[in-house]
This record gives sequence, C-alpha cells and structure tokens, in this order.
Amino acid sequence: MQQETVTIILPTYEEVDSLPSLIAAVEKVKEESLPNLQLIIVDDNSDDGTEELITSTDKSWVRLIVRRDEKGLSTAVIRGLEEADSDFCIVMDADGSHPASVIPAMINALVSGADFTVGSRYVPGGSTEDGWGVLRWLNSKIATLMARPFTTVKDSMSGFLGLQHKTFLAAKDLDPVGYKIGLELIVKCGCKNVVEVPIHFRTRQLGESKLTLKVQWEYLQHVIRLLRYTHPKFVSFFTFATVGVSGLGVYILALLVTPLIIAIWIAMTWNFFWDRKYAFWDARSTSIFSQYLGFVSICSVGAVANYFITSWFVEHAHGIPLAGLVGGLSASVIGIVFNYVFNKVLVFKK
Ligand code: GDD
Ligand code: MN
Repeated sequence: MQQETVTIILPTYEEVDSLPSLIAAVEKVKEESLPNLQLIIVDDNSDDGTEELITSTDKSWVRLIVRRDEKGLSTAVIRGLEEADSDFCIVMDADGSHPASVIPAMINALVSGADFTVGSRYVPGGSTEDGWGVLRWLNSKIATLMARPFTTVKDSMSGFLGLQHKTFLAAKDLDPVGYKIGLELIVKCGCKNVVEVPIHFRTRQLGESKLTLKVQWEYLQHVIRLLRYTHPKFVSFFTFATVGVSGLGVYILALLVTPLIIAIWIAMTWNFFWDRKYAFWDARSTSIFSQYLGFVSICSVGAVANYFITSWFVEHAHGIPLAGLVGGLSASVIGIVFNYVFNKVLVFKK
C-alpha cells in the first residue's frame, strides 16, 4: 500500500458506455495499492447519461464536474488539475485505451524523483493494439516528430500523464489549444526528468474517437505557439525571411503590371502585414499606422542599399560567373538581416 494522495483526472465527452469498466479498474487500483485515491471526471455536458450514471454510482471518492459552456480536451484537463488537492495527479483517457493497472508504477516514478511521467507506447514493453490504420499510425508519428524540438520523450503525444500537483501549480503561461496537454505541461512546467512507463494502448471498444481534422489543425497551431515560447528569436527571424522570399514573388508579379515604384510599395505592404502578424506577433506597443511608416522607411533604405550592392557586383565582379545573380542574392541576404534587425529594434517594440 502506498500512502500518497492521488487524483485521477478523466476528461470525458460522450463516454457513458466506457465509464463503468474504467471506474471499476481504478477502484481496483485504489483497493490494492493507493487507498488515498480520488477520481475527478470532467465532462463537457455530454448529455448521454454520464451524470445519471455517476450520481447513481454513489462512490464518495468519485466526483463529477460538468462544464456547461466550455469544450475541449486540454481545458478540461486543466480544470481537473485545478480542482485536485492531492499531491499527485494522473490524467488518462476514459475510453479504456489506457490501462489503470500502471498507475502505481507512474506514482512510483514521481515519488522517486521524476518531474513528469507518461504512459508510453514507444518504450520497450510498450505497444499499440493491432488494427491502427496506416493513416492513424502515420499521423501519430508525424505529430511525435514535430514535438522533437521540445522534448526527447518517445511518446510525447500520450494523453496518459502524471505529475506532482505542485509542478502544475508552478506552470507558466499555460495556453492550451487542442489535444496535446501533455506536451504543453512538459514544456511550460519545465520538466526535464520525464519517465516513460510502458503501456499497451488498447483500441477503444465503445463510442467514437474525437480526434478530428480540427484537432490536427489545432496541433499545428500549438506547435507554432510552443516554438514561439521556446525559440522566439529563431521563429521570428525565420518567419521574417520566409515572408521576405514571398515578398520577392509578389514584387516580380507586380512588376508585370505596374511601374517599379508601385511594385516595391505593394511588396513592402504585403511584407508588412505578414511580418506584423507572424514575425513580430507580440510587438503591439505602438499603433499599426506608425509601425507601417517605420517599416516602409527601413525597408526603403534596405531597397536602395540592395540596388547599389547589386550594381556594384554587376560592374566590378566580371570574373565571377553570374555576377548579377550573385550580387542580387548577397544583397538580398544582407537586406533581410538589415531590415530584420532595424525593424525589430526600432519599429516592432513589445
Ligand atoms: N471533457 C472533454 N472535452 N473530454 C474530451 C473532449 C472534450 O472536448 N474531447 C475528447 N475528450 C476525452 C474523451 O472522452 C476521452 O476520454 C479522451 O478525451 C481522449 O479522447 P479520444 O477521442 O479517445 O482521443 P484519441 O483516442 O483519438 O486520442 C488519445 O490518444 C492520443 C494518442 O494516440 C488521446 O489520449 C490523445 O491525448 C493522445 O494524443
Ligand atoms: Mn481514444
């Protein structure tokens, strides 16, 4: 028997059919290993009999929270973590995919000093039930790969997670979108020592998965947000350079139909809107109007410099093959760095 106080958090949406066997499995863990265990179900107004089921179950250690006006897996998990008052918290799916039997091992990992623990399909001893279509498998692999800049955890997509309650309370800037609350917590709680406990991931027997295209789109946004959080300078400059290249395309197209000076202005305006939105997403201390004026002034200096550098190459670098191209390219690289630095320092202040 372990004396730790533990809260199991179950986010649910239309899981009434799966709940009885899961509650029974958790109860077994409570009786055999963790007597101070509580269960919090955070349901998003499923209206499928979940409330009636829990009310009639009459177990004092099981608590149901119904959210009437909010939806979403990540926020449901956070709500559960906020309501918990135990030392340890475990989050798991309610559809039977996650085996309750490994909960004691996860708690042990935390007691032994892990910052975070996940029930993992991708460590020795872990597995996924056959029958995952190629698509779902590929999907999961790509998503895991995209999480690589943030964590080396093998199953960073797992929704089966455990942490100390105080770790959650120390989390900074939680900003959950979509599904990947585990990844969000690992990054925002600054968890270094993540222990993966192998699980056999079962395919849900009842009800339907809620992993839709929308969820995948949200994951993409989530990864971008996390990148901004962990590597803000890199994201900002990389985006600026990408917008710069797109601006070149706009410029060439505009040249086909307008005079040079108008084409430059169109390309600058194009760059301004995308840069303001994606490269300098958090610089909002001055008005958009003065930002625009500042941006155009700096880029004009850049454009003039670009012109002179390119001409210099064309005139002086006869020995180099494709001098014009080399000149244009070097001028563009210098121009992007110049424009970026001055826009960042002078125009897009936080
Ligand atoms: N409260 C609430 N609100 N719960 C939700 C919501 C919601 O909007 N959407 C889903 N859930 C609950 C489900 O009822 C289930 O208990 C759990 O969250 C997982 O939902 P599934 O629909 O079963 O997700 P999945 O099987 O596709 O994804 C699971 O496996 C992935 C790894 O393959 C989740 O654990 C993911 O987090 C995990 O990445
Ligand atoms: Mn599932």
